[in-house]
This record gives sequence, structure tokens and C-alpha cells, in this order.
Amino acid sequence: MFKLFREEFDSRLFGKNVYKLYLEKTLKNKKSVIAKIKKLPVDVVFCFTVFDNQNIEILEKLGFNLVSIRNTYQLSSKYKYKNISMPKFFKFSHSDQVKSKLNSNDIDKFIRILLQTSRYSKDRRISRKIGEKIYLTWINNSFYNKYADKCIFALSGDKAVGFITVKVKEGVGFIDLIAVLKPHQNKGLGSVLLNKAFNYLKSRGIDKIYVVTEGENTAANAFYQRNQFVLQKTELVYHKHNN
Ligand SMILES: CC(C)(COP(=O)(O)OP(=O)(O)OC[C@H]1O[C@@H](n2cnc3c(N)ncnc32)[C@H](O)[C@@H]1OP(=O)(O)O)[C@@H](O)C(=O)NCCC(=O)NCCS
Repeated sequence: MFKLFREEFDSRLFGKNVYKLYLEKTLKNKKSVIAKIKKLPVDVVFCFTVFDNQNIEILEKLGFNLVSIRNTYQLSSKYKYKNISMPKFFKFSHSDQVKSKLNSNDIDKFIRILLQTSRYSKDRRISRKIGEKIYLTWINNSFYNKYADKCIFALSGDKAVGFITVKVKEGVGFIDLIAVLKPHQNKGLGSVLLNKAFNYLKSRGIDKIYVVTEGENTAANAFYQRNQFVLQKTELVYHKHNN
């Protein structure tokens, strides 16, 4: 079984026909996926596959390139609330005032840190400009266009130095974006932001919480594991460019 569909968000940003292909199991009928890819006006395909030798062989024969690994975590069912000591000299806020005070320089700093570990920056066929445009749109949609259900900021004085966005889909919570600026990392800000996201979801009666991160992003993997997330699945991420 496979899922192949046009990704509207990426297509608009790339100005091309971008498709996503999900292979959740070993491909039984490789001819049908090949025929479908050939029939559609596909310029770029992002594929997420289970680690399966047969799928790997087919994708490589089709001209896909491995760009990343993607880990999906779920908050442990044995999650225990831990009283996290508040990092000194920082405040946390979800107020619209914080968003309205952000300037393009603040947003650029977040874009840079998010892009660094993203799969888009690992594909040489995707320009930095496109990568930046993807994150700029993603952040703008999350902060100002209700794409995220909740945005929480870590503040040093009145400057945002970190943020988290949370999405809710069909009663399940997703940590969508999280970033802490380099000089403020490893001070506990990320953990407090996660904790505040958990509290928000709890207030909505949601305890099923997921987060996805690149396997190569060891800092983020260690961070999620320390914060009681349990690895659910690892997928390979392949990209194919026709045009
Ligand atoms: C992931 C991120 C949000 C964590 O924020 P943070 O404020 O540094 O997190 P905390 O200080 O609460 O926790 C840091 C913990 O993460 C882990 N960690 C952080 N950097 C690490 C590194 N270089 N190597 C290994 N573990 C690391 C450690 O477990 C550390 O815990 P400890 O030092 O207390 O043992 C931050 O590193 C970041 O913005 N990274 C870039 C963007 C990103 O990768 N976002 C996630 C993509 S899904």
C-alpha cells in the first residue's frame, strides 16, 4: 500500500508540482507506484518509507536520493509531571503582544536555526532561498494565521529567544515547531516550552502528543527523550527531482 498526493503548501512555495509518497509497508505492487509517478505531472517527490530493503532498492532505481531520517516520538504513557526549575532571567508568554513585537530580524534568527537541521537544507537541489521561504511561511502561518493552535514564547527581557507551536488534529496534539536561539540553548528553556505545551494540551483534555524530528539531529533526539518522549518509528526520507 502506498499514498501519493500533491502537497499544496510545498507546490505553491516551490512553484512546481510537489508530491508526497508514503510507503508504510513493503511495496507489493511496484509497477502501480511507478506508473502513477510517471503518469502525474510530478516535478518533485518527497518520500517517507519504512526501513525496507525492497523499498530502498525500488526508490534508488527510480532516481530517489536519501536525504534524511525521520523519527516520530510519542509522549510516554507513563509520563510523570516533573517540576522543572524555571531558568532565571527568562519569562514565558503566549500573548499576541509578543507576536506583534517580533521584527523580521527576530524571525530570520528562528528561520536560520530551524533550517539548519531541516531535510530541506540537506538536499542540494533545494536552494537556501526556498528553504527560508518555507520556514518564513510556516512561521507566519503559525503565529499570525491560526495554523498553530498555540504559540508560546521564551523571553529575555522583551526579546523572544525561543518558541514552540502546537497543533491539534483529531484530538491528538503535535509539537509542530520548536526553537531556542543558540546562545540560550541548554539552559532549560526548551524543556519549559515543552512543559507549557503539555499543560495547554492537558487543559484541552489531550494526552496523546507526538513530535517528529530528523534522526541526525542528535541534540533534539536527546532533548525529546529526556523530556519523556518514546520513539515510535523511524523512516527514511528520499527526495526525487524531475525538474
Ligand atoms: C532542541 C532545542 C529546542 C532544545 O532547546 P534547549 O533550550 O537547548 O533545551 P533544554 O536546555 O531544555 O534541554 C537541553 C537538553 O537537550 C539535550 N541536548 C541539547 N544539546 C545537545 C547536544 N549538542 N548533544 C546532546 N544532547 C543535547 C540534552 O539532553 C540537554 O539536556 P541536559 O543538558 O540537561 O542533559 C534546541 O536545541 C534547538 O532550538 N535546536 C535547534 C532547532 C531544532 O532542532 N528544533 C527541533 C526540530 S524538531
